[in-house]
Amino acid sequence: MENSKLIALVSGGNRGIGEAVTIALARQGVHVLMGCRDVALGEAAAAPMRAEGLSVQPVQLDTTNDASVAGLAALIERDFGHLDILVNNAGVGLDYDPTLTVLEKLERTLEVNVVGTVRVTEAMIPMLSASKAPRIVNVSSELASFGLHFTPDWEHSDKKMPTYKASKAALNSLTLSYADQLQDKGIKVNAICPGYTATAATNFGPSRTPAEAAVIVVRMALLDNDGPTASFYNDVCELPW
Ligand SMILES: NC(=O)c1ccc[n+]([C@@H]2O[C@H](COP(=O)([O-])OP(=O)(O)OC[C@H]3O[C@@H](n4cnc5c(N)ncnc54)[C@H](OP(=O)(O)O)[C@@H]3O)[C@@H](O)[C@H]2O)c1
Repeated sequence: MENSKLIALVSGGNRGIGEAVTIALARQGVHVLMGCRDVALGEAAAAPMRAEGLSVQPVQLDTTNDASVAGLAALIERDFGHLDILVNNAGVGLDYDPTLTVLEKLERTLEVNVVGTVRVTEAMIPMLSASKAPRIVNVSSELASFGLHFTPDWEHSDKKMPTYKASKAALNSLTLSYADQLQDKGIKVNAICPGYTATAATNFGPSRTPAEAAVIVVRMALLDNDGPTASFYNDVCELPW
């Protein structure tokens, strides 16, 4: 595949894992649209990437806002006529916020991690359908894995995040449904777990870097035609749903 002809959209591309995915895809020759709620933050993040010669373009994207998503879809249609890679990375985890009730946590988390992902995906399907090798990568979490949940000595059994886990389980379910629904258009749809990574979302606690987390995202974004669809992987192995 000639990566230099590929166009990618990464939601939440201005920081954390999304920023690392933007850099890693651009280093593969892809033109990356960095979805940012605040384009000024995106421009600041993009400056060192451009200095490195990377082809990155901050674009306004609030996944919870119909007009923002529709506006970006129109921009992509006008300027490129297709989209090759959609990385649904934007996400929140609010379980440890003491100021919110459980219902508030659930509603706000589902709004971004599930409804927002569907809003963006639906808007981009026409552009993805115009690609020769379209790929959707949903940034999920092994915290959503039913299979791992009751595994003895699971390293993440200490993470009590019911609303976040529910949101990513819903995202995993949608991954399977979209993979089925979009198979006829040649769109491969996979979920990945980036691993427990040092970002604002984890108070920069873990030692794993966003660049390490980006590896599996990029692998799934640049899949060959014989690569999987409807799968759930981290950078080491396939994960149980
Ligand atoms: N870090 C981990 O250990 C880990 C593990 C497994 C999965 N994940 C997943 O990886 C993804 C990225 O997480 P991260 O750790 O990089 O988090 P992060 O540093 O908190 O970054 C989250 C990104 O999502 C964006 N975002 C949030 N709400 C949005 C919305 N409504 N519209 C558009 N963008 C929005 C943020 O934009 P603003 O800058 O405007 O807030 C930011 O760019 C998430 O889906 C997360 O669930 C993370």
